[in-house]
Amino acid sequence: MRYPAIIVLSIFCLLFYSVYTASARPSKRYDERTKMCRVIAAGTLDWESEPWGIGGIKFREVCKSCHALNNDQGAPFVHAESYTSNAWNVIFSKRNEVCALNGSWDVLSEDELQMVNDYLFRNGNWTYDPNNADSCG
Ligand code: HEC
Repeated sequence: MRYPAIIVLSIFCLLFYSVYTASARPSKRYDERTKMCRVIAAGTLDWESEPWGIGGIKFREVCKSCHALNNDQGAPFVHAESYTSNAWNVIFSKRNEVCALNGSWDVLSEDELQMVNDYLFRNGNWTYDPNNADSCG
């Protein structure tokens, strides 16, 4: 028996959506710089902390312009899963990596840096761990 493509597609989308949203990604991030709890799994920040939001886009546009595989900038390969969520928080609150200190991050506004941090926090290593990874209540 053959099913119309639209039904097959709908079922696929539903399955994908439920698997995707059921994963235990962190939903809140405590930001040391602004002393604020950022809700990253709802509202605008939900969108911006995904690969297609400002966080993901700016990470690829700016950070990955140097940190791609086999780059000629002398930068180690870095991707979201290079660090855990909390390690990303430290990297962005301290900003003492060579590239942060030499001004390579300065093309990003404070807001954009927060969103890149949100994106990396949300998609960092071990974020699929069943334990809750939120850094604030
Ligand atoms: C202009 C190029 C450039 C840009 C843009 C850049 N970096 Fe870097 N980054 C480097 C280089 C080069 C190093 C290695 C410095 C060293 O150890 O000598 C580095 C080091 C790092 C390290 C330490 C990695 C390790 O293994 O020691 C991290 C983490 C990092 N960068 C994150 C970022 C993030 C996040 C962004 C975007 C906000 C970014 N970088 C943007 C060039 C860049």
